[in-house]
Amino acid sequence: MKDTLILGIESSCDETSVAVVKNGREVLSNVINTQISIHELYGGVVPEIASRNHVENISPVMKEAIKQANIKLDEIDGIACTYGPGLVGALLVGVAYAKALSYASGKPLIATNHIEGHIAANYITYKDLKPPFLTLLISGGNTQLVLVKDYTEFEILGKTRDDAVGEAFDKVARVIGLGYPGGPKMDNLAKQGVPNIELPKVHVDGLDFSFSGLKTAVINLHHKMPDINKANLAASFEKNIAEILIEHTRKAIKETGITKIALAGGVSANSYIRQEFSKLQNEKNIEIYYPELKLCTDNAAMIASAGYYNFIKGNISDLTLNAVPNLKL
Ligand SMILES: Nc1ncnc2c1ncn2[C@@H]1O[C@H](COP(=O)(O)OP(=O)(O)OP(=O)(O)O)[C@@H](O)[C@H]1O
Ligand SMILES: [Mg+2]
Repeated sequence: MKDTLILGIESSCDETSVAVVKNGREVLSNVINTQISIHELYGGVVPEIASRNHVENISPVMKEAIKQANIKLDEIDGIACTYGPGLVGALLVGVAYAKALSYASGKPLIATNHIEGHIAANYITYKDLKPPFLTLLISGGNTQLVLVKDYTEFEILGKTRDDAVGEAFDKVARVIGLGYPGGPKMDNLAKQGVPNIELPKVHVDGLDFSFSGLKTAVINLHHKMPDINKANLAASFEKNIAEILIEHTRKAIKETGITKIALAGGVSANSYIRQEFSKLQNEKNIEIYYPELKLCTDNAAMIASAGYYNFIKGNISDLTLNAVPNLKL
């Protein structure tokens, strides 16, 4: 069978990325230009600055991705771009670029959901992984337990009612003085501490989550006790989160009878959460998957992979495509 090459374009937040992926699984190139050092100055992503940088970066990133893949643009079969969820001004840059490229090249345009992309990152890391499986999506903007019924068919089993896990990591990190992006900095700090501080565990009915109470408790504790050991606080916060995530994953396994679990999204790069989920594998039948670190946070290879599965389903868009900042799975 002829190989299918998909060009992926990602610009939903502060990474401008373009990738070429073969048959949804093999990365020929995955160029990521991150704006972290620019937004670090402000303690978080400034949407307008993100959009302007995407405009400047997208053409050079695209050229580099084609060069590293060692292909000609004419050889690609489709152009997949993130059209949501994300920052509207940032998304529009990728969407407009993909539409122009599709019009000029005559290649089909594949509107791709960023969350589907995070899930698809697992297909790149695990060449034999196939639906059905459960996904615990833990990212900067989303926290969901998802039943992946097929490559393009999803059922949300539970979701956060307030903060996403990554958001809670970033906010706590900012308050205790670690700066942006908080997740990786909390991860490193927690390794130097012990989880000996008691924090509230917020229980919500069913498979939904809630993290704002925990976030506020940690922030209040830090305000009341400015000399508190920050490494211990970070370790306790991570432990609390990992326990909730594992508890709910267990419930989802019990409810669905599905024992294949794939983690996805930026927080799945967290070393403690990875370690604790790995322990589940010692239990009967449970298989845990998580993308390689570079594929956990935003990148275009995951978009090209999700785009591939939409492409083979015939999910092609036209040039009326627009960004959808609050797009759901
Ligand atoms: N090692 C880590 N430990 C904990 N959190 C981490 C780690 N690495 C990254 N993160 C968090 O992951 C988030 C970024 O992930 P991602 O790029 O998937 O989110 P996003 O694209 O902003 O949101 P979404 O994908 O929901 O639109 C940030 O909140 C960041 O702090
Ligand atoms: Mg993301």
